[in-house]
Amino acid sequence: MKLIALMGSPRKGGNTDLLTDAFIEGAHAEGAECEKIYLDDLNIRPIGPVGDDWSMRSDLRLDDDARGVFDRLITADIVVFASPVYWQGVTGQLKCLADRFSAYYMAPWLREGMEGAGFFVVTAWGHPTSDESHWVTEPIKAWARGFKARYLGDVGAAVAKWGEVAQLPDALAEARDKGADAVRTMRA
Ligand SMILES: Cc1cc2nc3c(=O)[nH]c(=O)nc-3n(C[C@H](O)[C@H](O)[C@H](O)COP(=O)(O)O)c2cc1C
Repeated sequence: MKLIALMGSPRKGGNTDLLTDAFIEGAHAEGAECEKIYLDDLNIRPIGPVGDDWSMRSDLRLDDDARGVFDRLITADIVVFASPVYWQGVTGQLKCLADRFSAYYMAPWLREGMEGAGFFVVTAWGHPTSDESHWVTEPIKAWARGFKARYLGDVGAAVAKWGEVAQLPDALAEARDKGADAVRTMRA
């Protein structure tokens, strides 16, 4: 069982990162081999101009790191999309990568590689009184439908300051439990 987490927050040790570590801890305890990719460390450009004919599309920006991430993603049984809410959506780091799917959307290697994978979302948001998680979870639910992947669920917390979630043991425990659950679900 292989798990790859795409870390969309640029804050190492930030809230999404710590929740993802807890999720990974739970998954690892259930026997999963886990890898976390910090998207902000990579060079992933926006997609650039594409033609209207899907079958004629090619990746105009093959010289950056997007294709290398996809090559790893297609080997994963569980993909964790980890992103805080930024301006009512996922971070630019994750959005740039997701848009790049469209250069390969019809490619059999990508479609077959993603089909049946489990998608899980880890998020954090700063708004103190309303649950803003839907800005991140809803698009990724749609990505799962688009790839015929399986949406396994999500975990998140309302926390604004860098690493603040470390003070919320219940949120970390929930992430850990959901990591273990995700592996058990995919194994069943
Ligand atoms: C550019 C930017 C945009 C943000 N937009 C929102 C938002 O729309 N709604 C919200 O509740 N919090 C918003 N926040 C707050 C973050 O979601 C919050 O601080 C979160 O804990 C950051 O997670 P991280 O530590 O994993 O980076 C924003 C923060 C930044 C830096």
